[in-house]
Amino acid sequence: MKRKRYALIVLGATLSLSLVVTAVLNQALAHKAKHTPEQLQAFQDVLMEQVRLGDLLFHGDGATAQQMGVNLSRTGMACAMCHPFASDTHPHEFPKFQEQMNAFATLRDMINWCIEKPNEGEIIGTDSEAMKALEAYIYWSNQGSKLDTGRH
Ligand code: HEC
Repeated sequence: MKRKRYALIVLGATLSLSLVVTAVLNQALAHKAKHTPEQLQAFQDVLMEQVRLGDLLFHGDGATAQQMGVNLSRTGMACAMCHPFASDTHPHEFPKFQEQMNAFATLRDMINWCIEKPNEGEIIGTDSEAMKALEAYIYWSNQGSKLDTGRH
């Protein structure tokens, strides 16, 4: 009698475990489903819209800054004047210890450092639309760089 009950418990446990495994596998398979060319194009369009906005902000376009409610510079200098084509922004090296800030900094911290210090502008929210657009433009411009966290 005791044995039978034990066997039932084991059977029940095995069954529920296999149900969980099947559910997880199904989910994994759903992620493995190939995206259609239309979906991929839509994803690319979303990225390129952010890159476009970031490009405008990076080049000091006043109308875009106003539209996004940011003031990235009070000196008349745009990011691109010191970083043509996002050069020397090294997004692939972050996070790293940043000497100017005497802190371990993310790329977004560094973007805000440049807004506040050389640009004398108003720092922006780390999750703001303008920050995401600047990040998109900077990463996109540095595409193909080897990830090398913490390098100086
Ligand atoms: C007046 C010149 C100047 C302007 C304008 C400027 N920067 Fe910089 N930027 C610097 C200097 C100087 C550094 C520090 C270089 C270093 O230590 O690597 C720097 C560093 C950076 C870095 C980190 C590079 C690294 O590897 O540490 C990023 C990212 C960056 N700037 C983004 C921006 C953005 C975004 C803007 C516009 C909002 C901007 N910068 C405007 C001069 C400028």
